[in-house]
Amino acid sequence: MKIFLDTCNLSELRQAMEAGVLDGCTTNPSLIKAEVDREKKAGRKIDLDGQIEEICRTLGKGRPVSLEVFSIDSENMVTEGEFLYKRFNPIANNVFVKIPVNTSVDGKDNSHGLKAIKTLSDKGIPINTTLIMTPEQALLAAKAGAKIVSPFAGRVDDFIRTKAGTKFEKDDYFPAGGTGRDDSGIVSGVDLVKKIVEIFGAHKIKTEVLAGSIRNARQVRELALAGADIATMPFHVLNDMLKHEKTVEGTIKFSQDTVEEYRNVFRIKSKK
Ligand code: E4P
Repeated sequence: MKIFLDTCNLSELRQAMEAGVLDGCTTNPSLIKAEVDREKKAGRKIDLDGQIEEICRTLGKGRPVSLEVFSIDSENMVTEGEFLYKRFNPIANNVFVKIPVNTSVDGKDNSHGLKAIKTLSDKGIPINTTLIMTPEQALLAAKAGAKIVSPFAGRVDDFIRTKAGTKFEKDDYFPAGGTGRDDSGIVSGVDLVKKIVEIFGAHKIKTEVLAGSIRNARQVRELALAGADIATMPFHVLNDMLKHEKTVEGTIKFSQDTVEEYRNVFRIKSKK
């Protein structure tokens, strides 16, 4: 499974690159806002255009960077998608344009997302379809030409828990097997991803399944078991994947047990 970071923060992206574990990155208007707010709070002026350029360069060829449109009508989404691709793809040939599967807010015309996906895909622009909450949406996005579909695992868990009246903190673990109180046939975010993976497998659909909206390390493991092609996560989740008390304990013990004789093998003098 490929690992992406869900961030616009260059220092987080650089750290993951240096560690050799980063396969790509996803952004969205809320992540951009968080980055702009952070810089403003620190009294710095952000050069967003330059920062996006640097993100594309830092990840480099072969590591996709998803950049999202902001309009909700197909015509403007196509214009914005073309702009993003033309402006940023020449840097490292790694830009994916992110289009929401359905931008209708009044339930009337639900086709704007699919139309934009089809138009941009036909022009050879790779599309990551975002805000996927059902397998049916994923199926239609793939049919319209999307190269990636992004089911939002954590937000589906939030939806199920909220409907059931369960109190929870954002990063709380939610069982992949659900709690048996939902009514849509999807019992958790992990279950949503698993069902999309199964459908794409059964119908030989080549579109990749990118699990997004990840809240904790255990969810990453379950998404990997569910067959997700990609998982995109906040930096703190990537960090949590590395942590274990016994690893800390072992590090301390190995360090304490490093005798002078062993250091001498390396020709390193003890600092004591
Ligand atoms: C995916 O591409 C999205 O940017 C993201 O995972 C959304 O996650 P959130 O629900 O934590 O905002």
